[in-house]
Order: sequence, then C-alpha cells, then structure tokens
Amino acid sequence: MEVVSLFFRMKLLTNIQQLLVTGDFTESLAGKSMQEMPFIEDAYLLIQEGRIVDYGSMKECPYNKAAEISDISGQIVLPCWCDSHTHLVFAAGREDEFVDRINGLSYEEIAARGGGILNSAKRLQEMDEDVLFEQAKERLKNVVQMGTGAIEIKSGYGLSHEDEHKMLKVIGRLRETFSIPIKATLLAAHALPQNYAHNRQGYIDLITDKMIPEFSKEGLVDFIDVFCETNYFTVAEMEAIMEAGHQYGLRPKVHVNQFNAIGGIAAAVNHKALSVDHLEVITKEDILALHNSSTIPVALPGCSFFLNIPYTPARKIIDKNLPLAIATDYNPGSAPSGNMNFAVSQACINLKMTPQEAIVAATINAAFAMGVADEVGSITKGKRANLIITKPLKSFNALPYYFGNHCIEDVLIDGISLTQSNTYATKF
Ligand code: NIG
Ligand code: FE
Repeated sequence: MEVVSLFFRMKLLTNIQQLLVTGDFTESLAGKSMQEMPFIEDAYLLIQEGRIVDYGSMKECPYNKAAEISDISGQIVLPCWCDSHTHLVFAAGREDEFVDRINGLSYEEIAARGGGILNSAKRLQEMDEDVLFEQAKERLKNVVQMGTGAIEIKSGYGLSHEDEHKMLKVIGRLRETFSIPIKATLLAAHALPQNYAHNRQGYIDLITDKMIPEFSKEGLVDFIDVFCETNYFTVAEMEAIMEAGHQYGLRPKVHVNQFNAIGGIAAAVNHKALSVDHLEVITKEDILALHNSSTIPVALPGCSFFLNIPYTPARKIIDKNLPLAIATDYNPGSAPSGNMNFAVSQACINLKMTPQEAIVAATINAAFAMGVADEVGSITKGKRANLIITKPLKSFNALPYYFGNHCIEDVLIDGISLTQSNTYATKF
C-alpha cells in the first residue's frame, strides 16, 4: 500500500536540456572551481515529498512511471536562486530621492540632510505591523515568482527597540507564511537614530545589551549585521556588536566597503563573519584578509547599478582563488529590485563573471552565504526541490544573456509548481 502511495507522489522531469549545479558541496566554490559548475546534459530529475530523490543522465534513467511526468525537452532546470542579502521589509519606496539623485545629489548628500535610511525609518515607525507584513508578503510573492527559493531579510529601518522588534516579527510572520527558507538578520546598527545623535555609545549599548539578548531569546534572529562605513558605524563599534552577537550564537553578515575601505573586512573575518557584503571598494589588504577564512564575499551589483557607484571587482576576488556570492540587496534606497535574474546578468555584464561563475554565485555560494546550503542551492539527493524551470533556451549562457527578459516558465517550491498551484509558495 505504502509503495503505491509513494509512487503517486512522485514527479519526474525528463529530457531536461541541461540540469545545473548538480552535486553535494561541503563548502562554497572558490576561484577556478566556480567556472567548473557541474551540470548534466539531457537529464532527468525525480521529486518525491518535496525533495529531490534522484537525478542523472536520460541514458541511464531507470524510471518510466510516476504520478506526474513532464517532458521538458529544450528547457533548463536549476536550483532556485538564493538571495542572501535583502532589506525586503520596508514601509515605502523613496522615489523622491531617486529624482533628487537624477538631479545631481549623491546618496551620501541625501542621507546627510535626513533622507536615506532615516527617512525609511520614520516611515516604518509610523506604520502598523499588519500593513508592513502585507506589503512585505506581496514583495516576497513577487520575488519567488522570479525564481528566489531562499531569502535573507534584514531589520534596520526600525532603529529603536520597539520598531526593530516590529520588523523582526514581520520577518517571523513571513517565515510562518512562506515555505521557502527565510533567515532573519538584526541590522539595528544601520544608521544612528536622531534621538541618539549625541549618545552613540548609548545606542550601541541598546543593541548589545538589550536588542541582541531579547530578540535572540525570542528566536527572531539568525545573524547580526552592521553598516560599517564612514558616517555610519566604526570598525570598533562593529566589533562590539559582533562580539555581543556571538554570545547569542549570531554569526555576522556585515555591510562593509560600500563607499570606503576602513578595515571592516579584516575585523569581520577575525570575528568569523559568514559573509562580508558590498565590497565596491576593496584593497589588497582586504583580499589578503579573506584568504584562509570561512567568510564569503558577496557582491550586490543592483546597488552599484542604481547608485552609479563602482561595481565590486569580482575578477580580483575570484582570480585570487576566493569564493563569491551575489545578491540583490533589495531595499528602497540603493537597490529597489529583488530580481535575482537581473543580478545574474549584471554579474556577467558588469562584474565580468562567466555565466557558470554567476550561476554558482547565485545558487550554491549564496546558499552558503546565508547558512542554508544543507537544504537548497544545488541539485542533490535529499535537498528541497526548490527549482527553476526555464523557457526553452539553447544553453545556460542564454540565461544571463537575455537580460531583463522573462526566461522562467515555472518555479517549483518543495516540488510544487507555482503556475499550477498558484500558491506563491505560501503555506496556505
Ligand atoms: O545595503 N548600505 C546600507 N544599507 C542599504 C541601503 C539602505 C537604504 O538606503 O535604505 C544597502 O545599500
Ligand atoms: Fe544592504
């Protein structure tokens, strides 16, 4: 009886043109190995109970029966994108600042006159938790439809105990609502709130002595983040926050080297950061600090595109035998897009990464950069069947090539088709 019911829950994809990022990985791919993205031509994939149970070459396919068989000749299957760096919970867009920048103001100038992160914080503080949740839910549905099958979401627009808590609760509700892996990061040190303008240490103490202990005891946080940058938080302040985080089991994933290289990378590596993100400006010392570390560099090309700032020098990082992940940085100020397909195209076009490197950076390396590589990020037995099925494409090179086009035919989350079920990966 059981055999029969198992059979009925099987889904078999056959004649897959290319099945990408196959295999199990114990660590992120670095240097030349990013170019050697494993894939199988003319492949099959078997899914059962939301997991990948088998895959391989069609020539050796032992299955000819399953409850559901889809012949997808000419189409590519790959693991869903993992977006390891987002600020998807926010109250409102900042279109006015966008126009100010078109008219010549810089991101830093806008921030200096009370816009930027403080502007977003004011709007978020005024917004009811339920409204914030509903808005974030729509954004998350939208990015899942674009192929994101795991996501990290930061707080950082609350900037008070109460409002950082509100943001983390919203992320917690998203986690309960969606069936994809969602990681929450406390980014209370995103900007110094105005009421602490003359009491920096008071705000750092609030984060280290109250927010970190209380929010982690509630199970609302996985990682700790700091915007380590001139006019935001110093390396010493970031170190104090990372140390407090470690006491509660929170590994750092930090914003460093966006506008200035002030030593944040070495400090983050010393504190066993899981990732260092942005890196638009990077020195030889920074590269050296990353060697022999467990810290993954993360590039955010959408931010460079939108702010017209330098792109992370990916070649300098990969060619020095380091790993690299890419993420969207989805946020209202510097990257108002959560489209990982565009990030993958930008990785090729602006960061000079090959399609193989870019796909690795957005799947398995990104999964490691957000601590979900045991569940998603590659095609291997036992991992969750969070998969992208493309429209007919000649090869994986076409995926970044057709930038801005809609190349995805379907997304499966835990083996369930979004187009057929219309669930958007929500649990209800
Ligand atoms: O990653 N740089 C810091 N934080 C965000 C931008 C935040 C904002 O402008 O609202 C980023 O770019
Ligand atoms: Fe960011």
